[in-house]
Parts: sequence; structure tokens; C-alpha cells
Amino acid sequence: MFTQEEKDALYKVIYKRRDIRTFLPDLIPEESLHNILKAAHHAPSVGFMQPWNFIMVTSDELKERLAWAADKERRALAIHYEDAQGKEEHFLKLKIQGIKESPLTICVTCDPTRGGSHVLGRNSIPETDQLSTACAIQNMWLAACVEGLAMGWVSFYKKQDVRDILEIPPHIDPVALMTVGYTDHYPDKPILETSKWEERKNLDHLLFENKWGYK
Ligand SMILES: Cc1cc2nc3c(=O)[nH]c(=O)nc-3n(C[C@H](O)[C@H](O)[C@H](O)COP(=O)(O)O)c2cc1C
Repeated sequence: MFTQEEKDALYKVIYKRRDIRTFLPDLIPEESLHNILKAAHHAPSVGFMQPWNFIMVTSDELKERLAWAADKERRALAIHYEDAQGKEEHFLKLKIQGIKESPLTICVTCDPTRGGSHVLGRNSIPETDQLSTACAIQNMWLAACVEGLAMGWVSFYKKQDVRDILEIPPHIDPVALMTVGYTDHYPDKPILETSKWEERKNLDHLLFENKWGYK
């Protein structure tokens, strides 16, 4: 069904995609933007509810306010590392978003009411609406990589701050702020790996046979 070349291309983008926090001011071509949004919209979703919306934030004033919300949260979270030797300082040195630099921030939202009260398959696990939205985000992230665009997922914020800034109704969940643009530095490894915050775990250690913990 797929040629070896096509298979290689898919795995190449999966391994190449990175979370990027440093952007150039260059604008994103309409076609690339259309392609990444269409890829997001073709993600799987529970009961095919398609709970997502995409708010395209280009206003400098709004981006400034979103960056403020993220930075406020970053400072608030630093308290969790207070008692770990050197970890707080390390945490505060990490760049966790590039909202002001990137020409576009896409706020991806999830509407839990879409499809009514009995969305097929969502009655048992309500958060499958958010999981569906995450699938859309991952599609968009991979498509951005193929388009030569850098993308960064920002989740450091209080949802209410983002709702207030972007006038999102109270029942809608702002799942992610995705910063998009070009970059002159697209690393091979996760930034958190290079900055010695975390390493990729060994896949073998995560695999069990039939029952939890059995090898
Ligand atoms: C749900 C989710 C939330 C994330 N939130 C942030 C964030 O707020 N700030 C940030 O810099 N990176 C964020 N990231 C990116 C991760 O740090 C990154 O994916 C991870 O370090 C692995 O690096 P890679 O994406 O380059 O493979 C988030 C990623 C996910 C999946």
C-alpha cells in the first residue's frame, strides 16, 4: 500500500519533529497554514465529535498578554522545585515558550458539549474529547514539520487567563497554545534532553508482556 520511500518519509518526520521555542519573524505562507490546519482536522476523534477549534492569534497585543500568562505560570511553578538542589534555578533558566517571537500562535480548544450529551464512546471516558484534541495537535505538529515550520506547545498557563484574553466561553477548554513560525535552529534532540533536564527512556523498560510489570 505504501512504497518504502513513503514509509521512510513518515518515520523521518516522526523522528525529526521537535518542540521549538525560538522563532524568526518571517510570516507563514497561506498554503502551509492551510495544510497544517487541514491535517489537524483529519485527526481521529471519539464518536467523530471533532471537538476542536483553532483561534489564530496574530495580534501583538494579544500575544503579549498570552506571553504574560505563560510567564506568570512559569514563575508560579518554580516553587515546586524549591527543595530540589539546583533544580529551581535550572527550571527558571529553561525557555518554555516563544509566543512573542513567533508570528502566529494557534490556540487549540476543545468543546466538550459538541455532539450533545451522548457522543458515541465518550460516556465511559469523558476526557476522550481532550485526547481527540491532542490527536489533532499532533497531526498539526507533524504537518508543520513537513512544511519546514517550527512549532512549540505551550501549556504553562491558567486556563481562565487564556479564556479572558481570547474571549473564550467558560465551557470551552483552551487545550494548547501552539506557536508557529520559521526557526534558524531546529535541533536533532529534545531541548529538555540537551539541557540535561530529562532523557528519553529506554523503550524496552516500558514494555510488558500480557500483565503489568511482566517481561
Ligand atoms: C501536552 C504537552 C504540553 C507541553 N507543554 C510545554 C510547555 O508549556 N512549554 C514547553 O516549552 N514545552 C512544552 N511541551 C513540549 C515538551 O517539552 C516536548 O515535547 C518534550 O520535551 C520532548 O521534546 P520534543 O517535542 O522536541 O520531542 C509540551 C508537550 C506536550 C505534549
